[in-house]
Amino acid sequence: MLLRSLDTGVVGAPMAGGPTTPELVATVGEAGGLGLLAGGYLTAPQLAAAIAEVWDASSRPFGVNLFVPAQANAYAVGSGELTGSERADAVAAYRAALVDDAEGLGVQPGEARPGDDDDWERKLDLVVRERVPLVSFTFGLPSGAVLGELRRAGIETVVTVTDVDEAAAALAAGVDGLCLQGPDGGGHRGTLDPVKEPSGADLLDLVTVVRSHTDVPIVAAGGISTPERAAQVRAAGADAVQIGTALLLTPEAGTGLAYRRALADPAYERTAVTRVYSGRLARGLETDFMRRLDGRAPAAYPEVHHVTVPLRRASARAERADLLALWAGTGWRSARSVPAATVVAEFAH
Ligand SMILES: Cc1cc2nc3c(=O)[nH]c(=O)nc-3n(C[C@H](O)[C@H](O)[C@H](O)COP(=O)(O)O)c2cc1C
Repeated sequence: MLLRSLDTGVVGAPMAGGPTTPELVATVGEAGGLGLLAGGYLTAPQLAAAIAEVWDASSRPFGVNLFVPAQANAYAVGSGELTGSERADAVAAYRAALVDDAEGLGVQPGEARPGDDDDWERKLDLVVRERVPLVSFTFGLPSGAVLGELRRAGIETVVTVTDVDEAAAALAAGVDGLCLQGPDGGGHRGTLDPVKEPSGADLLDLVTVVRSHTDVPIVAAGGISTPERAAQVRAAGADAVQIGTALLLTPEAGTGLAYRRALADPAYERTAVTRVYSGRLARGLETDFMRRLDGRAPAAYPEVHHVTVPLRRASARAERADLLALWAGTGWRSARSVPAATVVAEFAH
């Protein structure tokens, strides 16, 4: 089992949208960790190119992370999800609320693209064809059939879960390992249900309870920003720690300039959880945009994501942080501009 044979017990979090580069994945692997390419938002050909780059740069094992689209989610999603015209109207109203911000950047809000499946089938075919050693999933639970297909191809599967019920569902579906994500992490909460209020239970408690129920490898994620915290979650039963924010300022990461500056800027006082950028809850540095739009964005992923993409791209192009999603965990102030191998060594068991 790959997750139990890592020299360091460190997994480099997949960070979609730019921060995770093939170079970062290869470097984490060479340092004795497991790098995870972020397959989310990429087309299958773009992901194929990234996989080829990692294979070229390193012979160490690595993984690919995929977003499970709503139509492939086998988890029993609860009621409360907006549907049909109600959902379309809520997205249209949110889009209209963004026009002034967009025009200030010389763009228009994007089209909603309801039902976009993030090129799911083609990416699954790709990881099977490439025999990627490990595939981790977030945003949903793949069916037992998909997990079985990957296993027959010799691929280890990991599903991101945020509470005990989700962990039980993933185990019942036949996953090889779990990524337990606590509430303090940067980026999206990987709840299997996109609408429910996620658990605020501490990561340590989640690891302890899930470990008492299963022997499968556990990767703990979320707010692990110091070696001491990593030691605590390992003592609670985690086989590995998945670190994201701690890698954002490394030279190997693709974190853009405005984002890097914001992470080091004392003017940002706290992180907060918001739906304003994507329609799914995610944690990032609290921005004025978050404060203004909070409560107005519907729980409609991926539509809200597509609607805000042009604003975020324009903000990045202008090297302004105003409208960027500055994803960061609660421990962001500990992130340092040091080589990724140094970070992996610091968090090693
Ligand atoms: C910028 C950024 C992008 C992320 N993108 C993804 C992603 O594509 N897939 C995923 O499973 N998790 C993603 N995450 C969440 C990480 O996998 C992980 O749970 C989180 O970074 C751990 O918390 P930490 O940031 O406090 O270390 C992202 C996190 C960040 C900070």
